[in-house]
Amino acid sequence: MFDCGFVGTLEPMKSSTRLVVLAPLALSALAVPAFLSPPRVAPQAAVPEAKEGPLEEAMQALQAGVKGLDKALEKKEVDKALGLVVGMQKAAHEAKLGTPEKAGEITDEKEKAKFLTGYRLKLIELERGLLDVEVALVEGKVDEAKKALEAKVKPVKKAGHDVYKDGK
Ligand code: HEM
Repeated sequence: MFDCGFVGTLEPMKSSTRLVVLAPLALSALAVPAFLSPPRVAPQAAVPEAKEGPLEEAMQALQAGVKGLDKALEKKEVDKALGLVVGMQKAAHEAKLGTPEKAGEITDEKEKAKFLTGYRLKLIELERGLLDVEVALVEGKVDEAKKALEAKVKPVKKAGHDVYKDGK
């Protein structure tokens, strides 16, 4: 290993004295590399990447809701359909409080306010349509629920997207 010459000078010491002198040295020898090594950092927690904002998430929920509702109504599964339509109402409510990306392209303040009011009203229209689906289901009228979905929910999607969704 290495020649630690000065230890030879400790020879004449009593063994207990030698222990007192050498123990801190031995400990510091252990401590030095630890001190020189880079600080230990706790492993990074896996942070989920926010791929989408709340508006996109709400829209995805609406999309899944329409798909599920179509199937549930076809099979006359009223309870399932009720759960789905209530979930869609929640999503429509979230979307209503969001801001479409397209609004960022409008610089004129008055124009922007008009755009955002129209957006909100269109989502309120969607909420009303979804409430109509719910009313029909609560009354056990599956055919009425289908009609409301076709006439008051699905067309509102296209109308909303034509005006408020970015073409990108
Ligand atoms: C049943 C009705 C609707 C369905 C199923 C639906 C579905 C969707 C889907 C799948 C997207 C793409 C989401 C993504 O990028 O991940 C989307 C985006 C969008 N939708 Fe809808 N939508 C509906 C109604 C509406 C209505 C009524 C409006 C407007 C009043 C609207 C405005 C938008 C906007 C603005 C975006 C782009 C998101 C953004 O700008 O940040 N949607 N929608």
